[in-house]
Amino acid sequence: MESWQNNAMPTTQPSPIPDFLYGTAWKEENTAILTELALRTGFRGIDTANQRRHYFEAGVGQGLAVAYRAGVVRREDLFLQTKFTYQRGQDHRLPYDPAARLSLQVTQSMSSSLEHLGTDYVDSYILHGPSSSFDWTDADAEVWEAMRSERDAGRTLLLGVSNVSLRHLEQMARIHNEAPAFVQNRCFARLGWDREVRIFCQKRKIVYQGFSLLTANIEVLRHPAIAGIASQAHATPAQVVFAFSRAVGILPMTGTSDAEHMRQDLASRDLALSPDVVRSIEYLVATER
Ligand SMILES: NC(=O)c1ccc[n+]([C@@H]2O[C@H](COP(=O)([O-])OP(=O)(O)OC[C@H]3O[C@@H](n4cnc5c(N)ncnc54)[C@H](OP(=O)(O)O)[C@@H]3O)[C@@H](O)[C@H]2O)c1
Repeated sequence: MESWQNNAMPTTQPSPIPDFLYGTAWKEENTAILTELALRTGFRGIDTANQRRHYFEAGVGQGLAVAYRAGVVRREDLFLQTKFTYQRGQDHRLPYDPAARLSLQVTQSMSSSLEHLGTDYVDSYILHGPSSSFDWTDADAEVWEAMRSERDAGRTLLLGVSNVSLRHLEQMARIHNEAPAFVQNRCFARLGWDREVRIFCQKRKIVYQGFSLLTANIEVLRHPAIAGIASQAHATPAQVVFAFSRAVGILPMTGTSDAEHMRQDLASRDLALSPDVVRSIEYLVATER
């Protein structure tokens, strides 16, 4: 298992992995305008999914097209990430034939994503979640191998998995000889900010993307210690959480719909926290239980 390293690097050079990802979930008819605004504000990493229930991927493509036309950004300057979602995570608006075998569903979903996003490749393709919340199943193995074929065909440069436990990753490592480049997980402060999975990833050079950093951790945002750190640093509690996450090796994601919050979130990259402060935040609510 220890030989399981991330050898998923592509032969062609991927766009550099950005230091913040703008998430496009739950934006519906505002998806295009918010994607464009995020790019104008300075985000260069965009996360979406071919899951119409929670994402409007074609709207992301519309926002990208406007930004390209306006000269805000070029495709090659962007990191575009999308996901394959099993039928049980979807509503009736499926991007594939549900009767087709899973490997074909992956190909169909990818083709649809590329069309939505107006590109012939994405930078990262993520399995939205394993088929079982407990085990890495044969279905997941088939999907992962199909995703590897998409990568080999050049339709994605890198691969990842989302909503995974340590157990999923350990099982995956036993079955496949290739590690994901990314793990994308919800990050609960009370669970040590997903410490077990983060450590597993760090050891194998897997980039850990964290979502719900604010919404899953209201008790941190409202904690007097965070208010103190924020006021000393002339920052907001949200900026402290993002700066902390980066300091512990989490690539943060934000789904803000607010222009000022977009600016603040990006500005958190300039906020340096001392190692002591970082350690205190890491254990802030985990040690209080
Ligand atoms: N893989 C998965 O299963 C999965 C699941 C969930 C999310 N995601 C991805 O992760 C992205 C982000 O999701 P998320 O759950 O982290 O975020 P989110 O649910 O979109 O929410 C971010 C929340 O934080 C607030 N916020 C952001 N910046 C702020 C700031 N500087 N000050 C105060 N409030 C601020 C936002 O409010 P305002 O809008 O008012 O700023 C919003 O309420 C999604 O869009 C999606 O791409 C993936």
